[in-house]
Formats: sequence, C-alpha cells, structure tokens
Amino acid sequence: MSGMTTPAAVLVDAAAYAVAVETAKKAAAAYYATGESALDDDAYDRMARGIAAYEEAHPGEVSADSPSGKVAGGAAVGDVPHTVPMLSLDNVFGGDEFTTWAASVERRIGRPVECWNVEAKLDGLAVAARYEDGGLVRLITRGDGLAGEDVSHATGMIAGLPDRLAEPVTLEVRGEVLMTTEQFERANTLRTGHGGTPFANPRGAAAGSVRAKDRPYRVEMTFFAYAALPLATTGPELAAALTGDSHGEVLARVAALGVHTTAATAAPPRTVTDADAVRARVEEIAALRPELPFGIDGIVIKADAAADQLAAGSGSRAPRWAIAWKLPAVEKVTRLLDVEWNVGRTGTIAPRAVLEPVVIDGSTVAYATLHNPNDITRRDLRIGDQVMVYKAGDIIPRVEAPVAHLRTGEEKAVVFPEVCPQCGSDIDTTEQRWRCVRGRNCHLVASVSYAAGRDQFDIEGLGATRVVQLVDSGLVGDIGDLFSLTREQILGLDRMGETSTDNLLAAIGRAKGRPLSRVLAALGVRGTGRSMSRRIARHFASMDVLCAADEEAMRRVEGIGTEKARAIVAELADLAELIGKLRAAGVNMTEPGATPPSDDPSAAEGSPGAVGAEVPAEEGPLSGMTVVVTGSMTGPLEKLSRNGMNELIERAGGKSSSGVSKRTSLLVAGGNAGSKREKAEQLGIRIASPDEFAELIAEFLAAEADATVTADAADTGADAMAG
Ligand code: IVH
Repeated sequence: MSGMTTPAAVLVDAAAYAVAVETAKKAAAAYYATGESALDDDAYDRMARGIAAYEEAHPGEVSADSPSGKVAGGAAVGDVPHTVPMLSLDNVFGGDEFTTWAASVERRIGRPVECWNVEAKLDGLAVAARYEDGGLVRLITRGDGLAGEDVSHATGMIAGLPDRLAEPVTLEVRGEVLMTTEQFERANTLRTGHGGTPFANPRGAAAGSVRAKDRPYRVEMTFFAYAALPLATTGPELAAALTGDSHGEVLARVAALGVHTTAATAAPPRTVTDADAVRARVEEIAALRPELPFGIDGIVIKADAAADQLAAGSGSRAPRWAIAWKLPAVEKVTRLLDVEWNVGRTGTIAPRAVLEPVVIDGSTVAYATLHNPNDITRRDLRIGDQVMVYKAGDIIPRVEAPVAHLRTGEEKAVVFPEVCPQCGSDIDTTEQRWRCVRGRNCHLVASVSYAAGRDQFDIEGLGATRVVQLVDSGLVGDIGDLFSLTREQILGLDRMGETSTDNLLAAIGRAKGRPLSRVLAALGVRGTGRSMSRRIARHFASMDVLCAADEEAMRRVEGIGTEKARAIVAELADLAELIGKLRAAGVNMTEPGATPPSDDPSAAEGSPGAVGAEVPAEEGPLSGMTVVVTGSMTGPLEKLSRNGMNELIERAGGKSSSGVSKRTSLLVAGGNAGSKREKAEQLGIRIASPDEFAELIAEFLAAEADATVTADAADTGADAMAG
C-alpha cells in the first residue's frame, strides 16, 4: 500500500480559483443528488486541496460557494433535522500522518488513548435509521450534516437494515448504504433493461437508488452500521449504554439487534492499543481490499472508549477522536478508445477494452476485461465513452460502466465481429461467450502451446516459437499431431539440431505418460480448469469411463451442476476424434490410483464414499483437510508449480483450494505470502512453512518416490523431491 496522494491542483489566479470552486460545487451537487459525478475521487480531492491551498494564500478572496470545511462539499440539504449532527471525517494519507494525528489527540486529552478501533471505511452513502419500539420508522440521508432527506421509501430494499429489530427498542443506527459488486451488476442489468443509462459505479448506484422514488424496478443494496445513538424516547438503560459504552460494545449491541456491521465481513473491526498496531491492521485491511465484495475507500480509526471520545470532542465538520486513513483510489475515469476481440485457445472470442492509459493504485492501466459481448450491451458501452475503471491489488482491471452523463454525442457503437477475427470462420453466438466454430483448431498456436505447458503435458522445449514453426509448416494441425511427429520432420525445422530434436522427442515421449487429469487439462475442456480436471479424472479414473458418462453421471462429480455437466458431456463428444487420435498415439488415458465409480448411483450419492470410495488417495496424510498454498515454495517443494502443489495435496488425500476461508484446515505459506496469510492469521487457521509441510507428509512423499522408481508415474511431487 502506497499511502501516496496525488498533488493538489495548482490554481494560478482568482479566475482559476473561481472556475475550480464552480466545478467542485457542481461535482459535489451532482454526486450527492444522483451519485454521479464528472470527477473521480482523486480528481475531486486534488481540486478541493487546490482550492484550500489558494484560500490559505488569499484569505481575503474566499468564496461563499467554497466547498472547504463543509460537510458534503456544501451540497444537498434535506428537511429532516438530525438529532445530533452527522459529521464527516478528517483524512490522513499515510502512517506518519496518522501517528502525528494520534499524538495530537493524546496531547489534547492529556493521556494515552485507551485503545483504537480500526475498521473499514465503507464506500457508500451515510444514512441514519430511526427505530421506535423495534420498528424502522424513518431513514434519512446525511444531507449537510444538520438535516437530511427522508428516504424511508428505500427501506425494504436494503439488506442488513431490518424492518424489525430483535428487541423492541428505540434508537438511531447510523451507517453506510452501498451496493456489493454483485448487487451493482444486477442493478445495472435492471436499469439498462428498463432503457436507463447504467450507473457508473456501486457507490453512485447506491446513492441514486436510495433517493429514487418512482422507479419501475427495485434494486437491492446493503447496509453496514458504524454508530448508534439514543433518541429522546430511548429507555434510560439503553441510552446510558449507547453513550457510555465503547464503540466496539455499541456495535456489538447493534449487531445483536439484527443490523449488519462489518464484524461479519472478511475485514472485521479490531481494537488495538498503539499507533504501530493501528498501522499493522490498516495494512491488513488494505491487503484484503481486492477480495472484499464491496468497495472501501479507506480505514476509519476511532478512539474506542466513550471517555476518550468525550475528552477529545468534535469540531463542526468532524470529530476529533476519529480519522479516515484514505487508501489510494482504485477507480478512475478514463476514455474507452476501442474494443479488441481476442481469440483464446479454445476458440472463445473475448472482447477487451482499450483505454486511454491511466494510473490506478500505482500502475498504468491500458486494457480492461469485458468478459463477453453481453457485458458490453448490458453496460451500454460506446467507443469514446468516459468509463469508470476499477483495479485493486493484482486483480485484472475491469470497466465498471460508462459515465453516461459525460456523453457528448460523438460516441460510437461498439462493433461486434461478424466472423471470427482470427480465422474468418463463423461465430457460434448461442452462448454468452462467443466462440469460433473451429473451436480449439482456430487459434492452433494458442491451444497447442497451452497443451504443451507446464501444468498440462509439460513438454520441455516446446515453446511458442517452436509451436508456430510446427503449425506454419503444416506438421501440426491439432494437439494429437504432436505425438506422431517423426525425427526427420522435427530435424527439418529451422534451427533444429540433432540434440534438440532428440530432447524434444524424449519430452514428447514422457508427455504420453502423464495422468488423465493432465490430458484433460491439455484438451482444455471449457468450464474445467486444472483443479476440476483433476477432480473429474479421479472420479472416473479412465477416459473410457469418462466419455461414457451421461449428464447424470457427470453431475456426481463434486462441484459440477446441471449446466456444467451438460456442457462437459457435449464438449467431450465434440472432442471424441481428438481423444481417439491421442489414444492411438499412445497417450495414457488413466488416472493412477483412482478406481472408476460403481454403476449404482445410490452408492455414489450422499454416502461418505461418494467421491472418496473410488479414490484411495483420500485416505492419505491430508485426508479430510482443505489445504491452501500461497507464496513461493522452498526446500524440497521448490520445483513444484502451484498446480503441482495442488496435485500433491490431492494425491495425499487432501482437498486443494485457492482461497482461505473458515473451512481451510491448513495454509502452506512460502516467502512473500500476502493477504492469504493475513486472512489465515485472522481466522486462526494453522499455517505451515513449505518445509514444515514437506515434513508433515514426508512418509507419503517417500512412498511416492519409491513407487516412481518402479512405475514411472507422471511428473509428480515425488519427482521434484527426488531431483
Ligand atoms: S464514523 C462521527 N465509520 O465516511 C463519526 N464513518 O468520509 C462519523 N464512513 O461521514 C463517521 N465508513 O459516511 C465512520 N466505518 C466508518 C465509516 C464511515 C464509512 C463514511 C461516513 C462518514 C464519511 C466520512
């Protein structure tokens, strides 16, 4: 996390200042009215700081319209007065600024702060929810902090804000309404389906939807509480608790009443006792950010004890006992220059957004995924649009939506290809993901390179350049041809000597012995990645049994539902010829150690042996465990790719998974382990170094190594161990 901020805008004269004030005012008004703004957060922030700097240098010229020091930039007011002002927060942008601020709080109260409460800063809009005798009676926006708008019509659309509390109490709960990524997607589908322009981002969508009164459709939002206070008719006991208890205790009470708090999310609040621990927790939450299903724009740090809050007091805009530690913006507005159509190894035709390069969270983003053509239609994207782009951590940047109100009329419709952009064949548009009718034979170089890759056939020496040569020379027309290449044919290629030819032939020979799971992965059956390929291979044990499986049999594989089963069965039928070719060339078609399922479906369904019965390996040292691997491997496991590690875990009877959750039994964390390690620590999950893990399964590895001596099992962990 950089903690870096963009510089303030430089306003050279009074005219520039006036323009800036006007722009900021309009942006704030638009943002608070509909959730849409022509400026992204960074741009607004830069402008606001430029305005503040100008005002500091020219105190005589401060405009009455200036957003400085005003809640909500001076925008939007409503007519429902708040019982207690709804304040905003001051910001810091990094650890040193935070430490300075914390020290100033402690100086002010004349003692160390008892403890700090560190929680996610939710990126939505603030609302106050008034409950009387346990019933939700009124929902009010923050407005200017003193009075807000009545948006009670939105109740019932907001998950986490129940109509009735668990107890018949009277109080006001304050918090943030937002849309999760999923809710945002659904809202935009609904909105464009009703002929509306899409929302630019989840926050804007929530802000607009809370206010909207006469929409013919309803969207779902989510609420998270971050404060609660007594109302005039609150009982004395609860009133005393809400004003006298710590922030953490108040939120626990709110949660017990049935209102959402961030305690139930992957980034729960923590109380810590010193500034260093605050910094550490901030880093943790920042690391979790990319995986959270909702947007956060920072971390809020509050003095937890009521006595400390009281002693620090509040200013007119913000409390002095709390601060927002802003994280770098992960959303930027930039221009959509073009949409490219790329053909993947299975012939899928995927659109990709070409963007005017923009720096987001420290890296330059010039492309973003658009998933499928429907995604473009659903978002109503047009070439030339200003679009909101999201990127956090190492996730692939995505276009959230166009900023529709910035359209000039010059935008052009995205042109969808009529024929395959790779080979000119027809396009199969019957599914969401379009596909060249030639399938994996369309982009032969991509599909053959993939099949030869480390986690598939693992053919050493068959890199992309060689594949291009083989395809261009006509020697390879599909994956199967690889296995019937002759010495003379390979020698005839450019820059191929005797030694490299023999090496390549030997590598191809070894590839024939790979387990069925690798063969399946190499075929690239759509909808099945590497781990699904392993599951299928273990379940059916041989290609014959697998290819004979109907949809019902396919559904018995863990994780395969009706639709996937249908797609896999159909795809395997399409692949029959290629599979036959591989078989004829001597490629192994079985999964070592697996036994095919019995024909009796009742034996396979529900019983404890449903998946395990045919897989003796599940009785290995990791039996019953779900293991996640992160970071770089060292020691005896050093040579294993991530896929190799997952294969090893599964051979040892465990289940491999890519994400840490409550169900994880063990995290193998190597060097440079990031957010997964943090998450595991938070959840109290057992963590092992690669060496400790190797130790844990040492006996199993030794037995495997023995077995490999006699039966040349495929490229297994034991190979790597022996080597
Ligand atoms: S505490 C008096 N906690 O951020 C304390 N605010 O930029 C006021 N926000 O107005 C707020 N997550 O709308 C608090 N965990 C959190 C928050 C949070 C989001 C919002 C809130 C506030 C704004 C300031």
